[in-house]
Amino acid sequence: MRPLNEKEGAVLWFTGLSGSGKTTTAREAASVLRKQGYRVEWLDGDELRKTLSSDLGFTPADRLEHIRRIVELAKTHADNGAIVLVSAITPYRSMRAYARSVLPRYMEIYVECPLEVCERRDVKGLYAKARLGLIPNFTGLSDVYEPPEHAELTIHTDEHSLTYNVEKIMQGLQAFDGH
Ligand code: ADX
Repeated sequence: MRPLNEKEGAVLWFTGLSGSGKTTTAREAASVLRKQGYRVEWLDGDELRKTLSSDLGFTPADRLEHIRRIVELAKTHADNGAIVLVSAITPYRSMRAYARSVLPRYMEIYVECPLEVCERRDVKGLYAKARLGLIPNFTGLSDVYEPPEHAELTIHTDEHSLTYNVEKIMQGLQAFDGH
């Protein structure tokens, strides 16, 4: 194990259900890393859907294309030495396998939170709408979320605090040797 060198890029890929806490955790991790002096880029799936992927919806093909674009962005930044944080549902194993195969020092972080809890939180009110049938292909309800089998780290947002989870991520990153 060697410590992370500032000149080396890495990608922290946060995957999990809508409302699981990906954005909140990635935002805090980005802030901590910046304070430590790292160059950080944060790519949030939900945000990029308003710009880079505004032409895409949530069919499997569109989701794949959306993730393909994010992977390209992440790769550019990581190749230039940034630590890139990506927060996007990334529901299919094939997408994550692709990201893993293309990106340097790819560290997958499964933001695990039971569907019932995400649905109870319903931060954006989307689960309620999806239950009413107003949102097709909704992850966890009418579209699949395939849990990671090879995540470098799993964090539990319903059991542990944000501070605790970010500390785990920092420890994982320091110990991470890529592949
Ligand atoms: S991904 O599947 O393509 O990786 P991404 O993280 O970019 O998803 O966007 C997910 C966000 O889009 C959700 O948090 C939610 O706010 C919104 N959303 C709208 N429709 C859907 C849907 N059918 N399934 C999942 N999320 C949706």
